Amino acid sequence: MKQYKIAVVPGDGTGPEVINEGLKVLEAVSNKFNFKYEKKMYDVGGKRYLSTGEVLPDSILDELKSFDAIYLGAIGDPDVKPGILEKGILLRLRFELDQYINLRPVVLYDKRFCPLKDKEEKDVDFVVVRENTEGLYCGTGGFLRKDTVSEVAVQESINTYKGVERCARFAFEYARKRNKEKKVTLCGKTNVLTFAFDLWERAFYKVAKDYPDIKTDYAHVDATCMWMVKNPNWFDVIVTDNLFGDIITDLGAMIQGGMGIAAGGNINPEGVSMFEPIGGSAPKYTGKNVINPLAAICALSMMLDFLGQKDAAEAVEESVKKVVKSKLESLSAGRMGYSTTEVGDLVVKNL
Ligand code: IPM
Ligand code: MN
Repeated sequence: MKQYKIAVVPGDGTGPEVINEGLKVLEAVSNKFNFKYEKKMYDVGGKRYLSTGEVLPDSILDELKSFDAIYLGAIGDPDVKPGILEKGILLRLRFELDQYINLRPVVLYDKRFCPLKDKEEKDVDFVVVRENTEGLYCGTGGFLRKDTVSEVAVQESINTYKGVERCARFAFEYARKRNKEKKVTLCGKTNVLTFAFDLWERAFYKVAKDYPDIKTDYAHVDATCMWMVKNPNWFDVIVTDNLFGDIITDLGAMIQGGMGIAAGGNINPEGVSMFEPIGGSAPKYTGKNVINPLAAICALSMMLDFLGQKDAAEAVEESVKKVVKSKLESLSAGRMGYSTTEVGDLVVKNL
């Protein structure tokens, strides 16, 4: 029997509540599909930082490298200055574990929850492959003459050929495996960012030569936003840099019904990957049993898929779809018609 080692980082805000529901589903699905897992909980996040000053201890980072996957809730606390936890935990994990892909599916499970007029389930079904270790997220740059009227702030976008090449290759492989339209769209800004996206374009078309069965397309990032609203059905796989990917996947979350359903995977195909709902810690809903746990449950489904438990992953996704279609009144916190724990129970029941 297969056995997996899963590290669980519930994190801040509503993170623990949604992760609890995900773990409930994991327990049920492991029995049904005959695999075992061993989980270890890690408490990093705002509370630990505020009481001990620790962000992500090196010892925990080292331990995390020995797991088969990491299941993460949310990082971010309104009582902590922006950037400390995000950069110190989330981005540090992505970088140090070299999770160079952020894979974010944009799938509409029920057209009732799509804010776009006249769009149906079949119109919103694509995936964004976001580069996850470079670009403007590297943290290079600095200040000159800080706090004077002549202050200068520089923040640089770092794009390496190796980093872009492996990201593009992942996108083409994924389009092939997904076997839908077999199309990869590069989302960039070649008309203004004539260095960074020149490299991206060269790497993209070079990799494309190895995939004659996959069509290529290009859209500027601003136009991508426009098409995501006007004709989302044009997209199959979108590949883009770190910041553009961050921005367009929030738009993607909205057209699939909101943050309550949007999941992502930070993938290192050769190492330890980390799966998370992309909605954040939602402080105002914390502890109320009203947050939607489906994004976390969809992240669990992605994790199972990457662990090689395809049938279990599909069963979880199908159950989520069923619950969304037949039960929920809304995908938003407090308006689902059910509590957080009840939605988790419904997913278990429909497995
Ligand atoms: C995300 C988040 C993070 C990001 C923040 C919290 C650092 O917005 O996962 O999309 O910008 O990547
Ligand atoms: Mn984001």
